[in-house]
Amino acid sequence: MQIHVYDTAQQVGQAAAMLFASQVIRKPDSVLGLATGSSPIDCYQQLIAWHKAGLLDFSKCISFNLDEYCGLPVEHECSYHAFMKAQLFDHINMKASYVPDGNAPDLAAECARYDEAIRRAGGIDMQLLGIGRNGHIGFNEPADHLVYGTQIVHLTESTIQANRRFFESEKDVPRQAISLGIGGIMAAREIVLVAMGEDKADAIRETVMHDINPRVQASILRAHPHVTILLDRAAASKL
Ligand code: F6R
Repeated sequence: MQIHVYDTAQQVGQAAAMLFASQVIRKPDSVLGLATGSSPIDCYQQLIAWHKAGLLDFSKCISFNLDEYCGLPVEHECSYHAFMKAQLFDHINMKASYVPDGNAPDLAAECARYDEAIRRAGGIDMQLLGIGRNGHIGFNEPADHLVYGTQIVHLTESTIQANRRFFESEKDVPRQAISLGIGGIMAAREIVLVAMGEDKADAIRETVMHDINPRVQASILRAHPHVTILLDRAAASKL
Protein backbone atom coordinates (compact mmCIF):
# COMPACT_ATOMS: atom_id res chain seq x y z
CA MET A 1 0.00 0.00 0.00
CA GLN A 2 1.45 3.36 -1.02
CA ILE A 3 0.22 6.52 0.67
CA HIS A 4 0.81 10.00 -0.74
CA VAL A 5 -0.21 13.19 1.02
CA TYR A 6 -0.83 16.46 -0.83
CA ASP A 7 -1.43 20.02 0.33
CA THR A 8 -4.79 20.44 -1.37
CA ALA A 9 -7.78 18.37 -2.44
CA GLN A 10 -7.24 19.56 -6.00
CA GLN A 11 -3.71 18.12 -6.02
CA VAL A 12 -5.15 14.79 -4.82
CA GLY A 13 -7.52 14.80 -7.80
CA GLN A 14 -4.69 15.64 -10.19
CA ALA A 15 -2.53 12.83 -8.81
CA ALA A 16 -5.42 10.36 -9.24
CA ALA A 17 -5.99 11.64 -12.78
CA MET A 18 -2.30 11.11 -13.52
CA LEU A 19 -2.55 7.45 -12.48
CA PHE A 20 -5.67 6.92 -14.62
CA ALA A 21 -4.13 8.75 -17.59
CA SER A 22 -1.00 6.56 -17.36
CA GLN A 23 -3.22 3.49 -17.24
CA VAL A 24 -5.14 4.53 -20.37
CA ILE A 25 -1.94 5.46 -22.25
CA ARG A 26 -0.29 2.15 -21.26
CA LYS A 27 -3.36 0.10 -22.13
CA PRO A 28 -5.78 1.99 -24.43
CA ASP A 29 -8.49 -0.68 -24.01
CA SER A 30 -8.43 -0.47 -20.22
CA VAL A 31 -11.41 -1.44 -18.09
CA LEU A 32 -11.82 1.37 -15.56
CA GLY A 33 -13.72 1.13 -12.29
CA LEU A 34 -15.30 4.47 -11.42
CA ALA A 35 -16.86 6.10 -8.38
CA THR A 36 -19.31 8.93 -7.67
CA GLY A 37 -19.54 11.45 -4.82
CA SER A 38 -17.44 14.56 -4.18
CA SER A 39 -14.07 12.80 -3.98
CA PRO A 40 -13.55 11.91 -7.68
CA ILE A 41 -14.71 15.24 -9.15
CA ASP A 42 -11.28 16.92 -9.37
CA CYS A 43 -9.87 13.76 -10.94
CA TYR A 44 -12.66 13.70 -13.55
CA GLN A 45 -12.18 17.40 -14.33
CA GLN A 46 -8.49 16.83 -14.98
CA LEU A 47 -9.18 13.80 -17.20
CA ILE A 48 -11.74 15.86 -19.16
CA ALA A 49 -9.21 18.69 -19.58
CA TRP A 50 -6.55 16.30 -20.90
CA HIS A 51 -9.09 14.68 -23.23
CA LYS A 52 -10.21 18.08 -24.57
CA ALA A 53 -6.58 19.05 -25.11
CA GLY A 54 -6.20 15.96 -27.30
CA LEU A 55 -3.88 14.20 -24.85
CA LEU A 56 -6.12 11.37 -23.71
CA ASP A 57 -8.30 9.05 -25.76
CA PHE A 58 -10.88 6.82 -24.07
CA SER A 59 -12.34 5.43 -27.30
CA LYS A 60 -11.24 1.88 -26.50
CA CYS A 61 -11.94 2.06 -22.76
CA ILE A 62 -14.88 0.53 -20.92
CA SER A 63 -15.96 1.66 -17.47
CA PHE A 64 -17.97 0.08 -14.69
CA ASN A 65 -19.29 2.19 -11.83
CA LEU A 66 -19.26 0.97 -8.28
CA ASP A 67 -22.84 1.58 -7.31
CA GLU A 68 -26.27 3.12 -7.80
CA TYR A 69 -29.25 3.91 -5.60
CA CYS A 70 -32.23 1.57 -5.76
CA GLY A 71 -35.58 2.99 -6.76
CA LEU A 72 -34.29 6.35 -8.03
CA PRO A 73 -35.13 7.02 -11.70
CA VAL A 74 -31.94 7.25 -13.80
CA GLU A 75 -33.04 10.74 -14.95
CA HIS A 76 -33.15 11.96 -11.33
CA GLU A 77 -30.32 14.49 -10.88
CA CYS A 78 -29.06 12.59 -7.82
CA SER A 79 -28.88 9.21 -9.55
CA TYR A 80 -25.35 7.99 -10.15
CA HIS A 81 -26.25 7.52 -13.83
CA ALA A 82 -26.99 11.28 -14.02
CA PHE A 83 -23.92 12.18 -11.95
CA MET A 84 -21.56 10.24 -14.20
CA LYS A 85 -23.08 11.69 -17.37
CA ALA A 86 -22.72 15.24 -16.05
CA GLN A 87 -19.31 14.86 -14.42
CA LEU A 88 -17.54 12.66 -16.98
CA PHE A 89 -19.31 10.67 -19.69
CA ASP A 90 -20.78 13.66 -21.57
CA HIS A 91 -17.30 15.20 -21.87
CA ILE A 92 -15.07 12.31 -22.95
CA ASN A 93 -15.26 9.53 -25.55
CA MET A 94 -15.53 6.37 -23.45
CA LYS A 95 -16.35 3.40 -25.70
CA ALA A 96 -18.94 2.04 -23.24
CA SER A 97 -19.81 2.81 -19.67
CA TYR A 98 -21.90 0.76 -17.28
CA VAL A 99 -23.62 1.69 -14.04
CA PRO A 100 -25.62 -0.92 -12.13
CA ASP A 101 -29.39 -0.77 -12.63
CA GLY A 102 -30.98 0.09 -9.29
CA ASN A 103 -34.44 -0.18 -10.85
CA ALA A 104 -34.08 -3.68 -12.29
CA PRO A 105 -37.25 -5.73 -11.67
CA ASP A 106 -35.09 -8.55 -10.27
CA LEU A 107 -32.27 -6.93 -8.30
CA ALA A 108 -30.60 -10.22 -7.39
CA ALA A 109 -30.39 -11.08 -11.10
CA GLU A 110 -28.98 -7.59 -11.79
CA CYS A 111 -26.22 -8.18 -9.21
CA ALA A 112 -25.23 -11.45 -10.90
CA ARG A 113 -25.47 -9.85 -14.37
CA TYR A 114 -23.18 -6.98 -13.34
CA ASP A 115 -20.48 -9.28 -11.96
CA GLU A 116 -20.69 -11.38 -15.12
CA ALA A 117 -20.39 -8.28 -17.35
CA ILE A 118 -17.19 -7.26 -15.53
CA ARG A 119 -15.82 -10.78 -15.81
CA ARG A 120 -16.59 -10.88 -19.55
CA ALA A 121 -14.87 -7.52 -20.05
CA GLY A 122 -11.71 -9.10 -18.64
CA GLY A 123 -11.91 -7.64 -15.11
CA ILE A 124 -11.19 -4.12 -13.88
CA ASP A 125 -7.68 -2.82 -14.57
CA MET A 126 -7.81 0.22 -12.29
CA GLN A 127 -10.49 0.99 -9.70
CA LEU A 128 -11.09 4.48 -8.32
CA LEU A 129 -12.52 4.62 -4.79
CA GLY A 130 -13.69 7.25 -2.34
CA ILE A 131 -14.24 6.28 1.28
CA GLY A 132 -17.23 6.85 3.54
CA ARG A 133 -16.86 8.45 6.97
CA ASN A 134 -17.71 5.00 8.31
CA GLY A 135 -15.00 3.36 6.18
CA HIS A 136 -17.31 2.06 3.45
CA ILE A 137 -15.99 1.52 -0.06
CA GLY A 138 -18.62 1.34 -2.76
CA PHE A 139 -21.67 1.02 -0.56
CA ASN A 140 -20.22 -1.85 1.45
CA GLU A 141 -21.32 -0.65 4.85
CA PRO A 142 -19.82 -1.70 8.22
CA ALA A 143 -20.84 -5.31 8.89
CA ASP A 144 -19.75 -8.49 10.62
CA HIS A 145 -18.51 -9.96 7.37
CA LEU A 146 -17.28 -9.09 3.89
CA VAL A 147 -19.56 -9.77 0.91
CA TYR A 148 -17.88 -11.01 -2.25
CA GLY A 149 -20.24 -10.23 -5.14
CA THR A 150 -22.39 -7.28 -6.17
CA GLN A 151 -25.10 -6.92 -3.55
CA ILE A 152 -28.14 -4.94 -2.47
CA VAL A 153 -27.27 -2.93 0.62
CA HIS A 154 -29.24 -1.04 3.25
CA LEU A 155 -27.52 2.30 3.72
CA THR A 156 -26.54 3.13 7.28
CA GLU A 157 -27.71 6.28 9.06
CA SER A 158 -24.20 7.74 8.70
CA THR A 159 -24.27 7.31 4.90
CA ILE A 160 -27.83 8.66 4.62
CA GLN A 161 -26.76 11.75 6.58
CA ALA A 162 -23.58 12.15 4.50
CA ASN A 163 -25.49 11.92 1.20
CA ARG A 164 -28.38 14.07 2.35
CA ARG A 165 -26.55 17.15 1.04
CA PHE A 166 -27.31 16.10 -2.54
CA PHE A 167 -31.08 15.76 -1.97
CA GLU A 168 -33.83 18.24 -1.11
CA SER A 169 -34.58 16.57 2.19
CA GLU A 170 -33.44 13.59 4.20
CA LYS A 171 -36.57 11.61 3.39
CA ASP A 172 -35.64 11.75 -0.32
CA VAL A 173 -32.34 9.90 0.21
CA PRO A 174 -32.84 6.30 -0.97
CA ARG A 175 -32.36 3.70 1.76
CA GLN A 176 -31.07 0.96 -0.52
CA ALA A 177 -28.36 0.74 -3.13
CA ILE A 178 -26.76 -1.82 -5.40
CA SER A 179 -23.01 -2.02 -4.95
CA LEU A 180 -20.05 -3.94 -6.23
CA GLY A 181 -19.03 -6.27 -3.41
CA ILE A 182 -15.68 -6.32 -1.67
CA GLY A 183 -14.60 -9.27 -3.84
CA GLY A 184 -15.34 -7.29 -6.99
CA ILE A 185 -13.31 -4.34 -5.71
CA MET A 186 -10.42 -6.53 -4.57
CA ALA A 187 -10.35 -8.29 -7.96
CA ALA A 188 -9.29 -5.01 -9.64
CA ARG A 189 -5.65 -5.18 -10.70
CA GLU A 190 -4.92 -1.75 -9.23
CA ILE A 191 -6.84 0.38 -6.77
CA VAL A 192 -6.60 4.14 -6.26
CA LEU A 193 -8.39 5.52 -3.21
CA VAL A 194 -8.79 9.28 -2.80
CA ALA A 195 -9.87 11.01 0.40
CA MET A 196 -10.09 14.68 1.24
CA GLY A 197 -11.17 16.55 4.33
CA GLU A 198 -11.04 16.11 8.06
CA ASP A 199 -14.24 14.08 8.19
CA LYS A 200 -12.39 11.23 6.44
CA ALA A 201 -9.41 11.25 8.83
CA ASP A 202 -10.80 8.64 11.25
CA ALA A 203 -11.79 6.25 8.46
CA ILE A 204 -8.33 6.63 6.88
CA ARG A 205 -6.59 5.97 10.19
CA GLU A 206 -8.70 2.82 10.78
CA THR A 207 -8.06 1.67 7.21
CA VAL A 208 -4.30 1.95 7.18
CA MET A 209 -3.25 1.58 10.83
CA HIS A 210 -5.56 -1.06 12.30
CA ASP A 211 -6.18 -4.73 11.56
CA ILE A 212 -8.46 -5.82 8.75
CA ASN A 213 -11.94 -5.55 10.19
CA PRO A 214 -15.33 -5.70 8.39
CA ARG A 215 -16.59 -2.88 10.63
CA VAL A 216 -14.21 -0.74 8.50
CA GLN A 217 -14.66 -2.36 5.10
CA ALA A 218 -11.85 -0.33 3.49
CA SER A 219 -9.34 -2.05 5.79
CA ILE A 220 -9.48 -5.12 3.49
CA LEU A 221 -7.50 -3.01 1.00
CA ARG A 222 -4.42 -3.77 3.10
CA ALA A 223 -4.54 -7.28 1.65
CA HIS A 224 -4.41 -5.99 -1.94
CA PRO A 225 -0.97 -5.92 -3.63
CA HIS A 226 -1.45 -2.69 -5.62
CA VAL A 227 -3.25 0.02 -3.69
CA THR A 228 -2.40 3.72 -3.82
CA ILE A 229 -4.03 6.03 -1.30
CA LEU A 230 -4.02 9.74 -2.14
CA LEU A 231 -4.87 12.12 0.69
CA ASP A 232 -4.95 15.80 1.42
CA ARG A 233 -3.41 16.98 4.69
CA ALA A 234 -6.76 17.01 6.50
CA ALA A 235 -7.63 13.40 5.59
CA ALA A 236 -4.09 12.37 6.62
CA SER A 237 -4.20 14.33 9.88
CA LYS A 238 -4.75 11.30 12.14
CA LEU A 239 -2.04 9.07 10.68
C1 F6R B 1 -19.51 6.37 -4.54
C2 F6R B 1 -19.16 5.43 -3.49
C3 F6R B 1 -18.95 5.85 -2.08
C4 F6R B 1 -18.23 7.20 -1.95
C5 F6R B 1 -18.08 7.59 -0.49
C6 F6R B 1 -17.45 8.95 -0.34
O1 F6R B 1 -19.64 5.72 -5.78
O2 F6R B 1 -19.08 4.29 -3.76
O3 F6R B 1 -18.19 4.86 -1.42
O4 F6R B 1 -16.97 7.12 -2.55
O5 F6R B 1 -19.34 7.61 0.12
O6 F6R B 1 -18.32 9.91 -0.85
P1 F6R B 1 -17.82 11.43 -1.03
O7 F6R B 1 -16.76 11.38 -2.05
O8 F6R B 1 -19.04 12.15 -1.55
O9 F6R B 1 -17.36 11.88 0.29
